[in-house]
Amino acid sequence: MKHKIAPSILSADFANLERDVVMINNSNADYIHVDVMDGVFVPNISLGLPIVKAINKVAQKPLDVHLMIVKPENYIVEFKNAGASILTVHFEASTHLHRTVFAIKENGMKAGVALNPHTPIYLLKDIIKDIDLVCLMSVNPGFGGQKFIENTYSKVAELKEMITIQNSNAMIEIDGGVTFDNYKKLINGGADVLVAGNTVFASSNPLETINLLKKQ
Ligand code: DX5
Ligand code: ZN
Repeated sequence: MKHKIAPSILSADFANLERDVVMINNSNADYIHVDVMDGVFVPNISLGLPIVKAINKVAQKPLDVHLMIVKPENYIVEFKNAGASILTVHFEASTHLHRTVFAIKENGMKAGVALNPHTPIYLLKDIIKDIDLVCLMSVNPGFGGQKFIENTYSKVAELKEMITIQNSNAMIEIDGGVTFDNYKKLINGGADVLVAGNTVFASSNPLETINLLKKQ
């Protein structure tokens, strides 16, 4: 399967949000990655439901919404109504993850589960068949533009093996510090979706950067 690219809107110019969403529409990107942070689960506050709705008004690509919030189960219907296609909750924030995953799917969205860098892959053993996407955090969540954590490569390999053994359809998404130095190794290791914030939006030609990240 050809890998997918999900530019992260966190690195966009929020004063020119429409312009940046239109740029993604016109690009070869597959999803728009939207980072929602509550200042409790992570030490930063980014954007919430009204902004997701505003992005969705302009977006022509599916919204891949990454919730970095406590009690994500309380906002499933709201994010569906705001336009999310994929809704990802953190393993560390979800006491009743199985219930939350099924509630996301019952609301017609793909269900994603994100793991912080310290959270081991084996904890997904009893849920991997039920989820559509695993988001491996390759930085500590909260901020764009951080350095890639190298231990992610071995997590990709372990996750890929679990997915194969259990015949799961889950996609592997890598979030944080994706650059031209590591994207090929990640794809070759089994990553299906690469999130890219700083690499896309800090470049002088974001459209061309997305093209290059789509190359095998
Ligand atoms: C970090 C966010 C990421 C972030 C990635 O908490 O979940 O999606 O936007 O940004 P870069 O690609 O700049 O590391
Ligand atoms: Zn993210």
